[in-house]
Amino acid sequence: MTTELKVGQEFKKVISERRSVRKYDSSWKISKKEIEELLNEAILAPSSSNLQPWRFIVINDQSLQEKLLPIAYNQQQAVDASAIIAVLGDTEAYRNVHTIYDKAQAEGFITPEIKETMVNNTWNNYSSFSPERRRNIALIDGGLISMQLMLAAKAKGYDTVPMGGYDPVAFRELFQIPERYVPVMLIALGKAAAEGRPTTRLPLEQVTYWNEFQGEK
Ligand SMILES: Cc1cc2nc3c(=O)[nH]c(=O)nc-3n(C[C@H](O)[C@H](O)[C@H](O)COP(=O)(O)O)c2cc1C
Repeated sequence: MTTELKVGQEFKKVISERRSVRKYDSSWKISKKEIEELLNEAILAPSSSNLQPWRFIVINDQSLQEKLLPIAYNQQQAVDASAIIAVLGDTEAYRNVHTIYDKAQAEGFITPEIKETMVNNTWNNYSSFSPERRRNIALIDGGLISMQLMLAAKAKGYDTVPMGGYDPVAFRELFQIPERYVPVMLIALGKAAAEGRPTTRLPLEQVTYWNEFQGEK
């Protein structure tokens, strides 16, 4: 079997076997090193102008997970998972544009002239965007990173469930998160104690249109 075929098959296995898992082995610990490895894979995700607005709070202190439980409407995975990774989006991520493009220049990926143009254009554009537009960008990029994190976890033999079912105001308060950051989702990460239930998908024909919009009006 060619390497390409093998990689393709392994990837297919990861994406087809991922399920939202809601029952976790509460005694299972995942080391800081392993979580950092996962996050390092996740942050390879693409983002708008490469501004990487994602920020993570890794919650693996049991007493904090207990505090999170009522905020997550008593979803048991909040306490049983090895960690809850809160994905946040920085709505002012453009403020890091210098750091990001300085690094690209230092690595020799772009010339000083291109860097100058990129930095100026990015700063001017993003700083003039409405707060709603910047929030949408942070949420879109936050969704991409979240998916990549969940697949990276599955590839390492772990399971996850994305969670939008929590009180964002109480969550913000618990971690004293400034307004600048928008909570994207919580992701429970751990060793499955029971498989996720199988789910169905709408047929491809119902969700895909070729060359024209053919959806319901
Ligand atoms: C943004 C988002 C929020 C979700 N919130 C919750 C949640 O709070 N609790 C939960 O048990 N599942 C939650 N889910 C999981 C979905 O129910 C699940 O992805 C869907 O039913 C498809 O199942 P699968 O992930 O096993 O393929 C959420 C999924 C997404 C994408």
